[in-house]
Amino acid sequence: MLLFREKVGPDWLPKVISNLPAVLVDHAHLERKAATTALNLEKYRDLFARVGELNAIAIEELQHFQLVLDLLKKRGIPFGQPYPSPWISGLMRSVRNGQRHQVIDHLLCCSLIEGRSCEKFQFLAAGLKEKEPELATFYGSLVESEGNHYATYLLMAREIDEAETSRRLDFYLDLDAQLMRVPNPLPMLH
Ligand SMILES: [Fe+2]
Ligand SMILES: [Fe+2]
Repeated sequence: MLLFREKVGPDWLPKVISNLPAVLVDHAHLERKAATTALNLEKYRDLFARVGELNAIAIEELQHFQLVLDLLKKRGIPFGQPYPSPWISGLMRSVRNGQRHQVIDHLLCCSLIEGRSCEKFQFLAAGLKEKEPELATFYGSLVESEGNHYATYLLMAREIDEAETSRRLDFYLDLDAQLMRVPNPLPMLH
């Protein structure tokens, strides 16, 4: 179902597993940003009819955020500063201006971010099974939700303009592949 053209690098999972406290803080911010992003999409005229669905996504992401905060508390990890993600800013930098172009690009970026989260949470669920079964179950429990967000954002874009969405999806899948090959030594999800 995920359309990616580049695999997650082999160094990503070991890096993340050996830095779990920092990764959990990064994950908390990721869910917080996912909630605010769903609300930000409500500014587009083409999405006025979808405001209820976007609110539902924002609520779900806020619940994920709270679940990660609960995990931080339980593990005595302080909530701290987010790292900026070069992959996310690389995608977002290419969002074009102008209502129709902007909403499609913005939705596609959101879709790819959700899709990569879905994929990486699956890897984490498998990779943490032995040493961190509680976290493995937690990541496994988020996979379906992030996968649904990936599909919902992609469908929203297609319903606004099918042909333009296909053209831009092709562009964004190449951009994602290119950005995925840039090494990032920081302990973060994206
Ligand atoms: Fe989420
Ligand atoms: Fe999500």
